[in-house]
Amino acid sequence: MADKILEVINLSKYFKTPRGMLHAVDDVSFDIEKGKTLGIVGESGCGKSTAGRAILRLTEPTAGQVIFEGTDITKLNVRQMNQKRRDMQIIFQDPFSSLDPRKTINQTVSEPIIANKILTDKEKIRARVRELMEVVGLAERLINSYPHELDGGRRQRIGIARALAMNPKFIVCDEPVSALDVSIQAQILNLMKDLQKQLGLTYIFITHDLSVINHFSDDIAVMYLGKLVEKAPAEELFTYPLHPYTQALLSAIPVPEVGGPKRQRIILKGEITSPINLPDECRFAKRCIYADDKCLEKNPELREIKPGHFISCCYSERFLSDIYRR
Ligand SMILES: Nc1ncnc2c1ncn2[C@@H]1O[C@H](COP(=O)(O)OP(=O)(O)O)[C@@H](O)[C@H]1O
Ligand SMILES: [Mg+2]
Repeated sequence: MADKILEVINLSKYFKTPRGMLHAVDDVSFDIEKGKTLGIVGESGCGKSTAGRAILRLTEPTAGQVIFEGTDITKLNVRQMNQKRRDMQIIFQDPFSSLDPRKTINQTVSEPIIANKILTDKEKIRARVRELMEVVGLAERLINSYPHELDGGRRQRIGIARALAMNPKFIVCDEPVSALDVSIQAQILNLMKDLQKQLGLTYIFITHDLSVINHFSDDIAVMYLGKLVEKAPAEELFTYPLHPYTQALLSAIPVPEVGGPKRQRIILKGEITSPINLPDECRFAKRCIYADDKCLEKNPELREIKPGHFISCCYSERFLSDIYRR
C-alpha cells in the first residue's frame, strides 16, 4: 500500500473582509505519497499560497484536517506544533523579501539551528552551515555575504539551505522559481529534484506557471477560486486534461508531447472573480466556453471519474467520453 505522508481533508481558509467572507481555500482534499511531488497550479489569487500556508498552520485553517504522518496537526498545541514544524518547511517565491537583508548567509542558515537548539557548539553550527551550503551548491567563500550581494539563484539557494537546516521531510515550495530568470529556473529545479532524491523529501510545488512543473510533479492539482477543480497524475493531466479550465490553462503553453491530442489555444473570457459571497454555482461557469444553465444550479463536487483522476464539472463524463472517442 502506498505510504501517504500527508492527507488534507476538507481544508478551508476564509478571511473576514468588509464586503463579506472571502473563501480563499474552500473544502479542499488531497493526499501525497512519501517522496512524491504534488504540483498545485492556478491563476494568481486562486488560493495556492493560502492553501500551502494553512497546511503548515502558518495561517490557521478555518476548517478541515491536515494529517501529517498519521497525526492531525490542526489539533496540536503551539509547543507540539513547533516541534512538528521541523519536519514541515516552506520555501518562498521571492528570496529577496523572505530573507533578512541585514543577515549574512551564515546568520540566516544557522538561525533555525540555534533557535531550535539542534546544535549549541559554535564550531559545530558553522560546520553544519558549511555542509548545508555545499548541499545547495553555494561556495563556501560566500558564508559571510549578504543577500543583496548575491544574484536571485544564489538567494534562492539560501532559502533552500535554511529550509533544509531542520532535516525536514516535507516542504511547501511556493513559486520557488517564479521570480528567477528562465536559465536559473532550470538550475534551481534540478537542485530541488536532486535534493528530493537524496533526502527522500516530499514536496508541494505551487506555481501559476504550468510549464515549470511539467516534468517536476508526480501529480498535479488545479485550483480555481479556492476549489480544486482537477487532480491527476502529471502525464495524464497534460495529455488528457478534462476540466475546461485545465484545458484553457494548458492550451496557453506550447505542446511538447508528440502524438498527444492537438490543442487549440482557448482564450478565457473575463478574469478570475473575487472569492467573496460566491453563489452556489460552478465557479468557472462565467468563463467556461461550454457552460449552460445546468452549471448554474449547483457547484459540482470533486469526483474520481477514472482511477486517480479527479474532476469537478457537471459535464465531466461527457468530456471523458469525448476524449476516448478520438
Ligand atoms: N490575509 C488575508 N486577508 C484577506 N484576504 C486574503 C489574505 N491572504 C490572501 N487573501 C485573499 O485570498 C485569495 C487567495 O490568495 P492567495 O492564496 O495568495 O492566492 P495565490 O497564491 O493563488 O495567488 C485572494 O483573493 C487574496 O486576496
Ligand atoms: Mg501565491
